[in-house]
Amino acid sequence: MPNLILIIDFGSQYTQLIARRVRESGVYSVVRSNKINKKELLELNPAGIILSGGPDSIISDKKYQLSKNILDSNIPILGICYGMQLITDFFKGKVQTSRKKEFGHSVFKISKTSKLFYRLKKDQEFNVWMSHSDKVIRLPIGFKSLGCSSNTKFAAMYNSEKKIYCLQFHPEVTHTVNGKKIIENFLFRICNCKKTWTTKNIINDIITNIKKQVSDKRVILALSGGVDSTVVAALLNKAIDRKLTCIFINTGLMRKNEVKEVKENISKKLGIKLITIEASTIFFNKLKNIKDPESKRKIIGKTFIRIFEKEAKKLKNIDFLAQGTIYPDVIESSSKDSKSDVIKSHHNVGGLPKDMKLKLVEPIRLLFKDEVRKIGKSLGIPASLIERHPFPGPGLAVRIIGDITEVKVRILQDVDSIFIEELKTHNLYNKISQALAVFLPIKSVGVMGDQRQYNYVVALRAVKTIDFMTATVSEIPYNILNKISTRIVNEVDGVARVVYDITSKPPGTIEWE
Ligand code: XMP
Repeated sequence: MPNLILIIDFGSQYTQLIARRVRESGVYSVVRSNKINKKELLELNPAGIILSGGPDSIISDKKYQLSKNILDSNIPILGICYGMQLITDFFKGKVQTSRKKEFGHSVFKISKTSKLFYRLKKDQEFNVWMSHSDKVIRLPIGFKSLGCSSNTKFAAMYNSEKKIYCLQFHPEVTHTVNGKKIIENFLFRICNCKKTWTTKNIINDIITNIKKQVSDKRVILALSGGVDSTVVAALLNKAIDRKLTCIFINTGLMRKNEVKEVKENISKKLGIKLITIEASTIFFNKLKNIKDPESKRKIIGKTFIRIFEKEAKKLKNIDFLAQGTIYPDVIESSSKDSKSDVIKSHHNVGGLPKDMKLKLVEPIRLLFKDEVRKIGKSLGIPASLIERHPFPGPGLAVRIIGDITEVKVRILQDVDSIFIEELKTHNLYNKISQALAVFLPIKSVGVMGDQRQYNYVVALRAVKTIDFMTATVSEIPYNILNKISTRIVNEVDGVARVVYDITSKPPGTIEWE
């Protein structure tokens, strides 16, 4: 019995969120490009298909034809937003560009009960999240309306015979009241899925797969000290024990005291064997005068792999390199796999050299961050480590705008350390998803103790997010920001001014580079 939900991506910013919502409900989901062919579809054998939203207009641009393979497969389908419009077009309904766009909150009213709205009532009204300018103005052949909003007569529709359901609003977004219920109705009432995606099952599956892939060979793990690679270390330790060697490379681009903390966490708290390689000089030399963010990422990725290969040779009989790659890295780095633009190459995917000699083991490649954290907790990794804010693979290199020098790294480490310390002191650290400091390559005039100074500017950034795909700025109380700024300018040599970044994502990304 198939128990997988296939999400077909048409470029929506919410595609990954749909996948996560399905998994949170206990059902495994995968995201695939809209170019998926019949063979791939048959191999996946999904219990249901969700068509994502997307930025394009079905009226002005017919670039995505819905494949007959999908619609004739007799697999239940849920079309969301653009997905609904594609289905309408295919089955000869009519979509029109509305003069009145509908973005943000809207009220949806159920006009007809259905399996999709199980445990909800006819005429019930609730808030939903809309993001569209095109809308369905004539239902496709064989479809019935399920509900409306003030701006959209057909905000939900279905064809029970074909098991196709469509929503103009986004059930995956938390602002949609009853969104979780609607997704679960699709999974359990329409697709007849079972709740098999549980932490215990995921751990067992991963361990079985590692044993199968690695067999009696040896693995080295690229350990960064962050949540992802630490969870991979714990999983590999459980699966292959002595055949695992963890290697931690000090790139010189880590946070203050991080090298010491990683050693303590991994060796002492988790009892995993760890080799530390001092490579700061190599990284600083390779990055000399490099200003372009993508070049920095590619150079760091490549240098990492080369160092690991060298270590693997020294250790002898190493066949595999393990990495803490997670699902968003895979989706975001692959322009082939997804329609969305490549915004940044994440070094553990985009920067891999083509002639790499070690084979890859990536046990959490299919997991989202919240799933990795749950697994970590269940494996006994200390909460202080699990709850740490994410830190990018290329480290402080992507938080120093322009070229990188040891002096700039030292300044940024000190600034970051004060910022994080104050957030912890004021009980804000766990309420913020990610806090960071950025070094700006501009100087500003200031005055300290009656003396003119001309020194660097740093930016502080703190965001709240569920999935790191979109984020809003954390509202740190003004008096605390004030204290942080005063401490930084007083205590960090080389900084004259502190600014606070108030850009959400989108349009900004979380990291500056
Ligand atoms: P952006 O800046 O793209 O970041 O909004 C989203 C999340 O990803 C982290 N990030 C990275 N993580 N390697 C990583 O392992 C990378 O190259 C990388 N770049 C960004 C970032 O810190 C945030 O949590």
